Amino acid sequence: MHYPVYRPRRLRRTENLRRMIRETTLDISQLIYPLFVMPGEEVKNPIKSMPQVFQFSIDLLMEEMKEVVALNIPAVILFGLPQEKDERGSEAYSQNGIVQEAIRTIKDKYPELVVITDVCLCEYTSHGHCGILKEQQVDNDATLDILAKVALSHARAGADMVAPSDMMDGRVGAIRQSLDESGFEHIGILAYAAKYCSAFYGPFREAADSAPQFGDRRSYQMDMANASEALREVGLDIDEGADIVMVKPALAYLDIIRRVKEQYDWPVAAYNVSGEYAMIKAAAAQGWLDEKRVMMETLIAIRRAGADLILTYFAKDAARLLQS
Ligand code: PBG
Repeated sequence: MHYPVYRPRRLRRTENLRRMIRETTLDISQLIYPLFVMPGEEVKNPIKSMPQVFQFSIDLLMEEMKEVVALNIPAVILFGLPQEKDERGSEAYSQNGIVQEAIRTIKDKYPELVVITDVCLCEYTSHGHCGILKEQQVDNDATLDILAKVALSHARAGADMVAPSDMMDGRVGAIRQSLDESGFEHIGILAYAAKYCSAFYGPFREAADSAPQFGDRRSYQMDMANASEALREVGLDIDEGADIVMVKPALAYLDIIRRVKEQYDWPVAAYNVSGEYAMIKAAAAQGWLDEKRVMMETLIAIRRAGADLILTYFAKDAARLLQS
């Protein structure tokens, strides 16, 4: 059918007509809010490159949690900044580590809130790499044992789901096995399945104090030019037991989100990362972009591409807008 019989503008005429045929929706239930937690009291350190994002000590994190829960955001993902770093990132699996402490405090007050934890070593190692080193290279299989310990320590503290972001081969299987052996078969895995080596993580590394001290992450994170490989990565993680698979970053990778959703029909999450947030915030601060509209356009685009869930620093702002 074509013009003049079919006139697409007929259904764009009023807001109610537009609402009725809108194909993609964004709901608060689809948002996951990332939070950074560190030792101390009354700490709320602003991150320069990420306006409105802070490093919190647990007491002030709980103020933030009050807001998150009031906004009806269903889930948070926690990143920890440890007291001390070492070669093996051992604070990452300490039962009294900062993330473990935060999980207990949050779940005590808000048992219904879904607490997800990032499982990685880069915030905890003195060299800033996501695994342990052998002759300046990240040793894949030796790292798996440590990641499994980290995940288990988070589950013991009360986490609902663990999210390995290290990109070691085989880590989803190793984590699944260690959780199952310890009676945590009900704890889920949100796998950073297709995680690219991206310059869009720049601001995060300030927030999490996790920049590599030498070299880069190219030997373990994916080459940004690859798409078929992402599908293989996702396939592996699903086979190893991932309950949700993630594509990260989101915006320069909308094609990957779409292909993953089409090929696997598995719950898909996308990480709207720090650099994507920073770009919008910076342009909005200059008055060059309408922040709220660009935020919504971005989040809905990620949904339209095929993501069921979005990890985003905009979660509170988006929830506020969706509530009103
Ligand atoms: C840890 C990790 C990173 C991010 C999430 N988990 C950084 C990295 O891989 O260097 C990035 C998140 C963001 O940029 O918002 N491995």
